[in-house]
Amino acid sequence: MAEADIVVTVMEDDKRTELLVKPGDNLLLAMVKANLPVEFFCTTGKCTTCRLVMSVPDGSAEPISETEAYRLGADALSQGYRLACQLYVQGPLTVCLSK
Ligand code: FES
Repeated sequence: MAEADIVVTVMEDDKRTELLVKPGDNLLLAMVKANLPVEFFCTTGKCTTCRLVMSVPDGSAEPISETEAYRLGADALSQGYRLACQLYVQGPLTVCLSK
């Protein structure tokens, strides 16, 4: 049986895009494939260029790793930032592309 698609909602000002991804898909890669204007550089969780505010319900991604927490810092984490390149989608979530 094929794995069900997961909806990732991307908000960019008034524009709403819904991506259909598979469980375990990388969020940054899914956004790049969809030609969304997401910035990135290292893709290894070091540069934080891909940091975005997200709403990630429990179970929709792995918990924040030590590396992600260290690179983002407490302030950014408390504002809902995650690193798109380090996030593997497990359930529906929402990403904000607006600056
Ligand atoms: S692209 Fe560098 S941390 Fe994600």
